[in-house]
Amino acid sequence: MDRYCVFGNPIGHSKSPLIHRLFAEQTGQALTYEARLAPLDDFVGDARAFFAEGLGGNVTVPFKEEAFRLTDELTGRARRAGAVNTLKKLEDGRLLGDNTDGAGLTRDLQDNAGFSLAGKRILVLGAGGAVRGVLEPFLAQHPASLVVANRTLCKAEKLVLEFTELGPLKAVGFDWIDAPVDLIVNGTSASLGGELPPIAPSLIQPGHTVCYDMMYGREPTAFNRWAAEQGAAQCLDGLGMLVEQAAEAFALWRGVRPDTAPVLAELRRQLM
Ligand code: ATR
Repeated sequence: MDRYCVFGNPIGHSKSPLIHRLFAEQTGQALTYEARLAPLDDFVGDARAFFAEGLGGNVTVPFKEEAFRLTDELTGRARRAGAVNTLKKLEDGRLLGDNTDGAGLTRDLQDNAGFSLAGKRILVLGAGGAVRGVLEPFLAQHPASLVVANRTLCKAEKLVLEFTELGPLKAVGFDWIDAPVDLIVNGTSASLGGELPPIAPSLIQPGHTVCYDMMYGREPTAFNRWAAEQGAAQCLDGLGMLVEQAAEAFALWRGVRPDTAPVLAELRRQLM
């Protein structure tokens, strides 16, 4: 049977095996998908061993940068992201690296939440790997402006320099104050510790601004609770992004795009 997997360490918590099993059932694709605990000091050895037979893999923390270096060929969006979350063995045995995270977030916003990015004023919080992966897919949708705010301003400035020719980008600190924006995406890891990036509440226009936390959990994240208190029109979490990035990977491997809605509903049900 065709073999796929997700590499990570730790990996026990990964929802990818469930998501891909549901996709395979739904589309009638015969495949197996396993969770692989790759050794921290030998991801490359583990990946090579798997791909002697395996056809594709997802890559999660902490191996996305190593996977980037392992590949023989990269998609443009993976090159820009500097990280690979999807590997595919090509017909000639070489490994293709892709990054479907940003496309997954864009699809979740546009298709699932009905929020079109074109012409919108967007604020993204954070300047780490998670944010790096979404800048190109966001700019490809032609927003009116894309502002990257980070606790450490120089990191946001450095990141913005790499993408600046792709669209109207600017870097600011958390003390940035302006007219309200249409969308705020929290791409910091602050939610992991229940913390909140200290941005001005006036950036949210009650009943209008959409807020999205790339994190998710059983309870609303600290950022989404705060956004709801400010009257945000919608407070979305990263579960949809997780399912959509998986669907992009599945489509790359199998040439079939699964319907994500029932899978997202099942994951949400299991989370509760
Ligand atoms: P990831 O790959 O998940 O993006 P990362 O590359 O370590 O992880 O980046 C983490 C991001 O979250 C950074 O933008 C970080 O801000 P700094 O660059 O100033 O460190 C941000 N971050 C982490 N904890 C935070 C907190 N408590 N408040 C605000 N920002 C935080």
